[in-house]
Amino acid sequence: MAPVTAESVSSESVAAESGASESGAPESAASESVAPLERGLAVLRAICASPDDAVRPGDLVRETGLARSTVDRVLSTLTRLDFLRSDGRAFSLAPRAMQFGDAYLAVCGLSEVLEPLAVRLADELDESVSVAVPDGDGVRFVIQIPRRRTMTLSFRVGDLLPAERCAPGALFAAQWSAEQRARWSRRLVGSGPPRMFFPLPPAPDGPTPQEVESAFDERANAAAKEGWALDDQLIEPGLIAIAVPVLDRADGRVVAAVSVVSHSSRHSADSLREHALGRLRETAARMQEALTGSRLQTEPHRASGSGPGPRVASSAPAPIDEPKRDLGPHYLRSLARGLAVLVALGSKRGGMTLSAVADVTGLPRATARRALITLREQGYVDCLDPEGRLFAPLPSVLELGYARLCGRTVEDLVRPHLLELSRQVHESASVAVLRGSEISYVARVATSRIMQAAITVGTRFPAYATSMGRVLLAGLPEAEREARIAATDLRALTRFTVTDPVVLAETLRRVAADGYALVDQELEEGLRSMAAPVRDHRGRVVAAVNVSMHAGRVEADHAREVILPALTATAARISADLAAMGDRLDVAAA
Ligand code: PHB
Repeated sequence: MAPVTAESVSSESVAAESGASESGAPESAASESVAPLERGLAVLRAICASPDDAVRPGDLVRETGLARSTVDRVLSTLTRLDFLRSDGRAFSLAPRAMQFGDAYLAVCGLSEVLEPLAVRLADELDESVSVAVPDGDGVRFVIQIPRRRTMTLSFRVGDLLPAERCAPGALFAAQWSAEQRARWSRRLVGSGPPRMFFPLPPAPDGPTPQEVESAFDERANAAAKEGWALDDQLIEPGLIAIAVPVLDRADGRVVAAVSVVSHSSRHSADSLREHALGRLRETAARMQEALTGSRLQTEPHRASGSGPGPRVASSAPAPIDEPKRDLGPHYLRSLARGLAVLVALGSKRGGMTLSAVADVTGLPRATARRALITLREQGYVDCLDPEGRLFAPLPSVLELGYARLCGRTVEDLVRPHLLELSRQVHESASVAVLRGSEISYVARVATSRIMQAAITVGTRFPAYATSMGRVLLAGLPEAEREARIAATDLRALTRFTVTDPVVLAETLRRVAADGYALVDQELEEGLRSMAAPVRDHRGRVVAAVNVSMHAGRVEADHAREVILPALTATAARISADLAAMGDRLDVAAA
């Protein structure tokens, strides 16, 4: 690794940044790292490693060894930055935490360049395909094209497997340095630093570390010789995989491995090799070509050539705002700034200089520099050039919430919002999507007794007679909206149901203009319901959120005056979360 010294990073002295920490005490002169940033990362890691989605501060105190007051300040800062959410007692990751992993994925660019080829291979073989990169003595997934038919463990983008338990690990190990190998051996005997591996079932016959070591050496040697590696149920019974390396053509380095994953009910290890190896090799060759063409920066230590590399087009991160008003004693400004630096590193391929980081974040150079030093010490950032001038995020950044958030369903995402809405208005709240001419419930929080038993996730109703259906239909392009109405049998479900297509079309135009729908007893007598559209990152209406109430209890005017503002605010919050998830969450398929 290129050394990062005060000289290589900045000519400014450390003293240039005033040395008082948030507690008012002077920072230790011995360390240039930023303690609140270190602590913030420790808390984030502990939340991500927890088996529960929501974690209480007391558990974080136990997991991190930090003082309760420190944990509280970190949580308050991360919540304020919208990386965490709290229900008042426990804390969970917010979609915005995807920005950390996005910084790595945007800069490494592998998903963008290799995913179409991985999708094609999965289609050709009709099996799951994944792409992983080396991450220390682990294997980190950056692409997953799942096609699992059998109940097996499924890994998400961002998950980390121990090298010895999967196919790509044997390919990566073939290029480990002596130091990397020694670190791996130390981990096997339990004396290395802890890493956040995906929690795998224990290996079936409980081999000793020595047995694991010799078996893995053998597999790594064979992988180096043959150019492929097998995983014959190393993870769990039934799960088999074959992987080939994707090389950097310039220097022969293994930058990634592409795997085909199957199950013993369809293939033996040998038949999977026969079935998949040829196409897998062709795909790896195409991937190498695509990488050469795109001149991606996939690993530290590669001179980036003359230019600064292409700008990352798609997902330039939103800057982390620093509220200017009184931030209060619980706000750890240097934690917020350090995380802003990490996110900012995703804004340019080919690595960023200290000056560029200071420019993008608007931070003083000395502040940005100390954040970079800390992030590098923590293993999240490294230098791409031997001079130590170009900084880029490392795959381990994906452990800061990316995999966890990738695993969330639409229901997981909307449920806290529905709970809050229902708490505010004391009525039931739901989210639904459009399926043909029907709505299908994706999530529901019920408080009232009306229809409570009848509606569950997956329940369907005719779109034309429901408030959610109307905002969903109203969100369609005019021609499609008309086609769906024409294809629907508009039956009177109550004496109030609008069944005239002309009246319905006019109603939908008004819904589109108003931005909400109020439906009064058209689906069921006594039921009044109000809905607002939920949009994705492209601005398309992909879902609807509603509040349903008893018509006798809640007047339509009250609904408009009191419930509508809470409803539209909820729709906006859900839309913002969907925007943060981007293409990673397919709402229509929920
Ligand atoms: C996977 O992508 O799920 C996978 C890949 C390689 C393995 C096992 C699982 O060895």
